[in-house]
Amino acid sequence: MPDLYAVVGNPIAQSKSPIIHGLFAAACGHDIVYERVLGTIGEFASTMVAFRAQGGRGVNVTAPFKLDAFAYATHPSDAAKTAGAVNAIKFEDDRVYAENFDGVGLVRDITINLATALRGKRVLVLGAGGATRGALTPLLDQSPVEIVVANRNVARAAQMVGEVAGTAAIATVGYDALARERFDVVLNATSASLVQALPPVPAHVFEGCALAYDLTYGKGLTPFLRFAKDNGVARCVDGVGMLVEQAAEAFLWWRGVRPSTRAAIEAISVPLV
Ligand code: ATR
Repeated sequence: MPDLYAVVGNPIAQSKSPIIHGLFAAACGHDIVYERVLGTIGEFASTMVAFRAQGGRGVNVTAPFKLDAFAYATHPSDAAKTAGAVNAIKFEDDRVYAENFDGVGLVRDITINLATALRGKRVLVLGAGGATRGALTPLLDQSPVEIVVANRNVARAAQMVGEVAGTAAIATVGYDALARERFDVVLNATSASLVQALPPVPAHVFEGCALAYDLTYGKGLTPFLRFAKDNGVARCVDGVGMLVEQAAEAFLWWRGVRPSTRAAIEAISVPLV
């Protein structure tokens, strides 16, 4: 019997993970079954009990279950603990190993696929929610000269940065404070793109900016990416590469082989228009 995996979320029909893992498995010659599981809100544990009873080996976790998955884990990784959220689980006997590959997926997409080194660069991160929480440590590991986190609610940002990064030098500011600043890389980790909104980021931040990156995907040219493009940023990309790279990390963790990601990125990219 092929090994069974799934992505669990609610809703789940939109998930690209079965396509991505199907491509990985075919390319690596692995015989797996990868399903979509519609989790019941507030019932993550029973959804997992049912999946494990079918012989499930692991799951990817998407909204709104990433915090529930952390609570369900018996063996969370450091990345999962830092994020307080889990996006990949591996079942071994009674143990529930849990990981969060979102941040490493983001950094691999930027540094490898987009060939944009972060060492010595000024990086601006917009937003202070779950996406930023997971990204900060992998970003810090790249030794940028500075990371600034901008959020409407500055106190929320300061608290989150203190919890995640401790004494590491990350500034937390409101959007007004960016009016005279410029950055090499600007990351939109807010949820604004999901509702076609633009974070109140001043155009000045894009002067000399090499890369504008929206962590959402499948939304085409989001208001953030359009604003960056209109202000002269040559490279404006969405989070499709991050999605595929975090999936590749999970595949490696489950299967012991790192799949090539190029074909999957091409398969699920939508034009940024
Ligand atoms: P996620 O887990 O996807 O990161 P979240 O935890 O709800 O989502 O966090 C959403 C983030 O997007 C927050 O940082 C929020 O800013 P505030 O904390 O100031 O509310 C940010 N956000 C959402 N909509 C936004 C908008 N239109 N402009 C700027 N920031 C926005």
